[in-house]
Amino acid sequence: MHKDLESILITKEQIEARVEELAAEITRDYAGQSVLLVGILRGAVMFFADLARKIDLDVWMDFMAVSSYGAGASTSGEVRIIKDISQPIEGLNVIIVEDIIDSGNTLKYLKNLLQTRRPASIKICALLDKPSRRVVDLVGDYIGFTIPNEFAVGYGLDYAERYRNLADIGVLKREIYQK
Ligand code: IMP
Ligand code: MG
Repeated sequence: MHKDLESILITKEQIEARVEELAAEITRDYAGQSVLLVGILRGAVMFFADLARKIDLDVWMDFMAVSSYGAGASTSGEVRIIKDISQPIEGLNVIIVEDIIDSGNTLKYLKNLLQTRRPASIKICALLDKPSRRVVDLVGDYIGFTIPNEFAVGYGLDYAERYRNLADIGVLKREIYQK
């Protein structure tokens, strides 16, 4: 275990098994159709790459990068688009792929924005969900794991841009926050 972690929340084996299940669910739900996966940079990259490879459909890929105006650990309702997707999505089955739903602000904003571009359908797939932190009405369609109100890092998730490359998902030691 990485020295800055308090504990492991989800092991890489658990992640792999769950990603496989989510991919199978998506494959079933969209049978005979194609999907555009829209990954949210940078937290979703590991999840995105693993999920995409396990979906047995015609898969297109695109990415968005966003930044929240909120200060500190939580986001505000205002989201700034740093990088938009590079194609029209009218008539496509869009699945937004995100690392975690926390307050729900980011995904609520993104879903509303993409909805205005008239996709055939739009769903949300998030690896992690912290429902106890929700401040807006937002429900994910595909959720990997529901977790308690702890700050998770690893497998794409960061604290101050660190720990994204850890294979497992863990909880940071308190002293790391307080430095
Ligand atoms: P929301 O808009 O509050 O739902 O925030 C979602 C974003 O906050 C995610 O894309 C993450 O970048 C970040 N975030 C929220 N909780 C965590 C966490 O436990 N670990 C790492 N990043 C988090
Ligand atoms: Mg993020």
